[in-house]
Amino acid sequence: MASCGIAAGAQKVYDALQQALKDLPVELGISGCMGMCYNEPLVEVRTAEGRRFIYAKVEPKQVERIVQEHLIENRPIEEWLAYGDGIETPDSAFIDKQQRIILKNCGVINPESIDSYLEVDGYKAIEKAIKIMTPEQVIEEITHSGLRGRGGGGFPTGVKWSFAFKSPGRVKYVVCNADEGDPGAFMDRSILESSPHSVLEGMMLAGYAIGAQAGYIYVRAEYPLAIKRLKKAIEQAKEKNFLGENILGSNFSFDIIIREGAGAFVCGEETALIRSVEGKRGMPRIRPPFPAQSGLWGKPTTINNVETFANVPWIILHGAEAFNQFGTENSKGTKVFALAGNIVRGGLIEVPMGITIKEIVHDIGGGLASGGKLKAVQTGGPSGGCIPASLADTPMDYESLKKIGAIMGSGGMLIMDESVCMVDVAKFFLKFTQEESCGKCTFCRVGTRQMLNILERITNGEGKEGDIELLEDMAQKISAGSLCGLGQTAPNPVLTTIKYFRDEYQAHIVDKACPAKKCKALISYHIMPEACKGCLRCSRECPVGAITGEKKQPHVIDQQKCVRCGLCFSVCKFKSITVTTGKERGEANNV
Ligand SMILES: Cc1cc2nc3c(=O)[nH]c(=O)nc-3n(C[C@H](O)[C@H](O)[C@H](O)COP(=O)(O)O)c2cc1C
Ligand code: SF4
Ligand code: SF4
Ligand code: SF4
Ligand code: FES
Repeated sequence: MASCGIAAGAQKVYDALQQALKDLPVELGISGCMGMCYNEPLVEVRTAEGRRFIYAKVEPKQVERIVQEHLIENRPIEEWLAYGDGIETPDSAFIDKQQRIILKNCGVINPESIDSYLEVDGYKAIEKAIKIMTPEQVIEEITHSGLRGRGGGGFPTGVKWSFAFKSPGRVKYVVCNADEGDPGAFMDRSILESSPHSVLEGMMLAGYAIGAQAGYIYVRAEYPLAIKRLKKAIEQAKEKNFLGENILGSNFSFDIIIREGAGAFVCGEETALIRSVEGKRGMPRIRPPFPAQSGLWGKPTTINNVETFANVPWIILHGAEAFNQFGTENSKGTKVFALAGNIVRGGLIEVPMGITIKEIVHDIGGGLASGGKLKAVQTGGPSGGCIPASLADTPMDYESLKKIGAIMGSGGMLIMDESVCMVDVAKFFLKFTQEESCGKCTFCRVGTRQMLNILERITNGEGKEGDIELLEDMAQKISAGSLCGLGQTAPNPVLTTIKYFRDEYQAHIVDKACPAKKCKALISYHIMPEACKGCLRCSRECPVGAITGEKKQPHVIDQQKCVRCGLCFSVCKFKSITVTTGKERGEANNV
């Protein structure tokens, strides 16, 4: 059980199963995240022959029938299945189209048991490295695999490790970046909650490769379950001598320490993170020197993301060639994405690099939850870009995304339909980065505030000719004049929305219209007298008493009182209320 499942009520289902199975020869256990957030709580039935059946959205009252029909009578209940070996279900595409390396243990093993990890070749990679590989060979294997950092930058991991390896010094460190600050991203949390030992093993391999004696995991305090499972995993690894002095009888000694972060987005930036681990205020500093030369307490340090580390044991065990058969020429392997927003099957997926946005949204995600048309996909969180539906054939790899002005980022994917206002989306992300700026650089601190002021004016109907050009000019200056990635990339959502949805900006500025009818200052609600049945529903629901009218008589909205909350629009069963914007609005308001 991971956070998602627990939030959906998995504990109650587990308790019901425990009760129902107490006299049966069936083993009951917990697992981590299967990635199907949209179907939680999930119950998997695994047979002795290894066949898997996954029941979706299980409630405690369904447990009795699952036990009776599936476990006792061996008849899977097909209508409740999200997935079943040899059975076609509407959700089969969600699983069948994925390629699991990083998430291979997630939802499969018990994340709280080291034995469960050992059963799936856990700690075999570190054993192999210690026994038959030199540190240089480990670095060579990772370099050859083509693995690139999954934290957003995409820097080649093997190259990064070779820098730290070559840096002189007896004391070196490994740092795992588990800060995961992008709004809507939950890849790292899920990996840590579901397979913490994979990340520990990846860190050990990095430690062995660069010659470090200790590793730090910087994890946000908002992830209590991940922290709890990491602590348990570290204890268990120490008991079995995978961590500590002279690991597996070798000369290699390595320890792992957890540091909890307080949730500042900028602390995910590597130099700010290092300062935060040292107990100082988390503020980025100029590079060089890079952490590989002078990192934690001035010592050579390699810092990698959770997902990057989770790839490493698999590569060492199966070889670089097995890994780089997946992906594209310059983006090897697989990538985990957190599918969120307007999507039928929202959750966590792992796919080969190079898969198109369309395949992710339609085949794996099952299309838009609203049934509407795809308008845009935001990748890379607040540092990323909005990709329009017309570019949905773009492959998800570092180069292709960069070419269209977006970035892969850490793996957040926000799906939006036609009802979303792109100026409002840009404002949302810029507001986030503006609030998270550490304030060190003037361009980032003041520039993002000024850009936000302009966007606020535009969405309030006070946009002026020249605002778009001013935004573009400021964006370029902020990117150029900022010290760290936060300021350098903060304008990206604004730039990509201007690039692909310029007409929407124009409509806000020139026509005082919000084409998506979202910006409150630019819309009005009206009741169509010929359609209104006078059912009184809207007037009862309106929070400010703006609607008047007699029973069975057409109602009227007082535009002065209306705060455009949209409640009347959503409660009217007779679709008698319209939303207007721009010229249409002016005409309607003058009636
Ligand atoms: C503002 C900002 C926030 C960042 N947040 C994260 C984060 O939450 N997790 C992460 O792994 N990397 C984050 N990064 C990237 C890190 O600085 C660093 O590049 C990364 O941890 C390196 O690991 P990798 O090579 O395995 O990707 C952030 C960068 C910036 C500029
Ligand atoms: S760019 Fe922004 S977040 Fe980064 S150091 Fe400068 S002020 Fe701080
Ligand atoms: S809910 Fe609809 S039909 Fe009923 S009074 Fe309001 S506008 Fe008229
Ligand atoms: S939009 Fe909200 S405030 Fe305006 S009339 Fe409808 S319910 Fe009342
Ligand atoms: S089901 Fe695991 S994150 Fe939602």
